[in-house]
Amino acid sequence: MKSVAVLTSGGDAPGMNAAIRSVVRCGITKGWSMYGVTNGFAGLIVDNIRPIGTRDVGGILQKGGTILGSARSEEFFTEDGQRKAIRNLRRMGIDALVVIGGNGSQTGNYELHKLGFPVTGIPSTIDNDICGTEMAIGVDTAMNIALEAIDRLKVTASSHQRAFLIEVMGRNCGYIALMSGIAGGAEFIVIPEIEISPEEVAESLQLAYEHGKAHAIIVVAEGAKYNADALIAYFQKHEERWGFKIRATILGHVQRGGAPGAFDRILASRFGNGAVEAIAREEYGVLVGLNNGAVTTTPLEAIIGKTKTISTEMVELARLLD
Ligand code: F6P
Repeated sequence: MKSVAVLTSGGDAPGMNAAIRSVVRCGITKGWSMYGVTNGFAGLIVDNIRPIGTRDVGGILQKGGTILGSARSEEFFTEDGQRKAIRNLRRMGIDALVVIGGNGSQTGNYELHKLGFPVTGIPSTIDNDICGTEMAIGVDTAMNIALEAIDRLKVTASSHQRAFLIEVMGRNCGYIALMSGIAGGAEFIVIPEIEISPEEVAESLQLAYEHGKAHAIIVVAEGAKYNADALIAYFQKHEERWGFKIRATILGHVQRGGAPGAFDRILASRFGNGAVEAIAREEYGVLVGLNNGAVTTTPLEAIIGKTKTISTEMVELARLLD
């Protein structure tokens, strides 16, 4: 018999609700008492920890966002804040905590682990920048939203012989840009992991124009040195030279909202069960992940502070197909 709390932290990601539902229902199936924490680590500090039951998580599988709310708490990143959080968890009789969130959230989770509180992490961020898992919850849905935007922009671009710079999220990681760029047939993809110059982007535009293309699509990761703002400033200076007229669209948070797709609902459901099983084995301080098709656990110690590398196979593929 255990008492387990769950929270969502950092930027929301489609599928977080499916993960909450899975943790709560898998825990209840084991006969455990389950608790939901409101507004992430901030909620732990102000003691916002409440019992959560099977019916509370009914009808949320298909909803974007997080019913528990999320926040980025500065106080939690002080040792004082962390000790306050642990005191509140212990006062409520909580035996273990499940943290659903991205890199920053799992770093906070690791701090609680180092202070001796039993924790498990579930990777959830559209950025796909967490080590220890091939995919995080939310990535697939965000990628598909970016792809839909690319497809739509390609249509209007073709009608007007235009080039579009489409900026996607991802913080310092180029995963969404690279994958949605490949899926959307981009002429050029700009990611933070590979330094490029505006001249290289210009060259790809000119080539597309010379080959008689009616459009050119350039997908740009927000974290790249030359993001959409920097590139549009460069191109607008010499607009007559590129053949195409150039427009920029920044997708922003639209990629985070909306209903999770099937992949994210299933991944989140598997991760929720994986976290409950890890707690049942009393295997703490780990991140649940997807590796070679299986749900795995990796010690937080092995992944915190590490940078996930981008697939060279995918980078090569993008070059072959542009
Ligand atoms: O980490 C998820 C993410 O959406 C990043 O892609 C983006 O850079 C950042 O969060 C935006 O943060 P905020 O929601 O605080 O504006």
